[in-house]
Amino acid sequence: MKRRDFLQYSGLGAMGVAATSVMTGCTKEEPITKFWQQGNFRPVSEEVTETKLVVEGAIPPELSGLYIRNGTNESTGIADHFFGGDGMVHGVRLENGEAKWYRNRYIDTPVYRKEKTGFGAPKPEHTTSAVSVIHHGGELMALGEFGYPYLLDADDLSTKGVFNYDGKLTGNMTAHPRIDPETGELIFFGYNVMAPYLTYMRADAAGNMLQVEPITMSGPSMIHDFAVTKNYVVFMDMPVRFSWFSAVAGSGLPFKWDDGHVTRFGVMPRTGTDADVKWFDIPSCFIFHIMNSFEQGDEVVFDAARYDALWVKDSNDFFHPARLTRFSMNMKTGKASVNQIYEKAMEFPQVNRQKWTQPYRYGYSLAVDEVNDTPDLIEQSEGGIRKYDLQTGEVDAYMPGVEYTPGEAIFIPAQESGGGEDEGYLVSFIYDKNTRTSDFCILDATNVSAGPIAKVKLPVRVPVGFHGVWVPDSAMS
Ligand SMILES: [Fe+2]
Repeated sequence: MKRRDFLQYSGLGAMGVAATSVMTGCTKEEPITKFWQQGNFRPVSEEVTETKLVVEGAIPPELSGLYIRNGTNESTGIADHFFGGDGMVHGVRLENGEAKWYRNRYIDTPVYRKEKTGFGAPKPEHTTSAVSVIHHGGELMALGEFGYPYLLDADDLSTKGVFNYDGKLTGNMTAHPRIDPETGELIFFGYNVMAPYLTYMRADAAGNMLQVEPITMSGPSMIHDFAVTKNYVVFMDMPVRFSWFSAVAGSGLPFKWDDGHVTRFGVMPRTGTDADVKWFDIPSCFIFHIMNSFEQGDEVVFDAARYDALWVKDSNDFFHPARLTRFSMNMKTGKASVNQIYEKAMEFPQVNRQKWTQPYRYGYSLAVDEVNDTPDLIEQSEGGIRKYDLQTGEVDAYMPGVEYTPGEAIFIPAQESGGGEDEGYLVSFIYDKNTRTSDFCILDATNVSAGPIAKVKLPVRVPVGFHGVWVPDSAMS
C-alpha cells in the first residue's frame, strides 16, 4: 500500500482531536513540594516488558525499527533536581506494522548502583546518562549532560557498558551531538566546571575519534547544545553560569543566571582550532536547544528556543517561555542579527535529521502553555505538537487538550516518498491524565493537526522525559 493511501485510510486522525476531556487531577500520595513530584513528572517504580500491545489505528508498515527515549527516573525517592534522577530509557519496537514490545529500563551506571565516588572530582563514568540517545558507529548510546556515554543493547535496552572512544574521550560528552547526514561524521563537545571548560570533538562514521580540541571560554557556563553546519560549529557562552556559592549551599544543580555576563557565540570552522574561533556579542539570552543550523551566503545561521533569561533565582526556575528565534552570524562583517520567528512558547525543537547541518524548510517542536506553565498549574497546562513551515510562515499544530501531554516529537522520514522534507511521521509518547497511562503516538508529519494516525496503548505511563531517537532496522543490521 502506498503511503498516501495508508494515511487516508488509517482513520485515527479524527479520533485524536475528538477525544473527551475529563480532568482527574493528581493524587497526592505524599507531601508535594517540587514540580518533578507532580503528575507525570513523578518517576515510575518498575521496569516493565510488555509484548501484548493494543493498537488503535494502524502502524505504517514501513516503520520497522526502535524508538527509544531517555529521561530521569530517580530510583530512590525524589531527586534533588528535575535533571538529577537516574537515567531510564523507554522503547517501542515496531516491525512491519506491528508493535512488538514496550520496555523501560534503568541505565545501569555506577550512580544507579549507588557506588561511592571516593575523594576528588567525579570520574566520567559516574554519570546518570539520562538526557538523550543517539545511534552512531553501529552503537546505541545513552548520553548525559556530563560524563561518558553508556552503550545500550537495542534488543532489550539493557546496558552494555561505558564507552570512551578507546580512551580518546578524556572528559564529558554532550547529550546533543549532530551527525552530518552526508559524511556520517559525529560532531560533539563536552563541557566542564573546571578548565578546559569546553572541548570540541569529532568522530568518523565508524566511531573513531578524529579531533579533540579544547576551546577557550570565559569561564564555566551551562552549554547544553551547539550548532553545526556543513563547514562550521557554533559554541554558546551564555549567562547561566556555574556558581560556587550555589554549590556550597547544596544546590541540586549549581548553575545560575549571572546578569553581568555578556552572551557570546563563537563560530569555528568544523576542522579548525581554538585559535580560529570568531566570537560574536549577542543580546542577552539563554538557549537549551537548537532546531537546526546552516550556511547562507556569508552567514552562519541557527534557529533555537530562545529564553530572555533562565534560572535567575536558582536552577529550579524553569517556568519562562522560550520562542523560536533565528540567529545569524555574518563571517565577513562580524555582525550578528537576532530575529524571532514565531511568537508562541515552544521547546524541544526537532527537524528531519537528514537536514542536519543544511538549509531546511520544516521544523517541529512542542507547543508550551504560557498561561498555565507554572509549578502550581502544571497538571492543567496544555501542550501540543507544532510544525513550522519556515518558507511560508505557516504553522500546523496538534493540540490534544489539557488531559493529554505530548513529549518530544521525533521526525521519521518516510521510505516511500518523493523526497519531500516533511514526508514522514512524528512519534511521541503522549500521557493521558485520565487513565494515567501513555500512548506511543504516530502522526503524519504532512498533516499534524489531524492528530495520531496510530496509537500504541501502553499499560503504564511514560514520565515526562527528554530526548529520543528512531533507529530503523536498516541502521541496526
Ligand atoms: Fe536537551
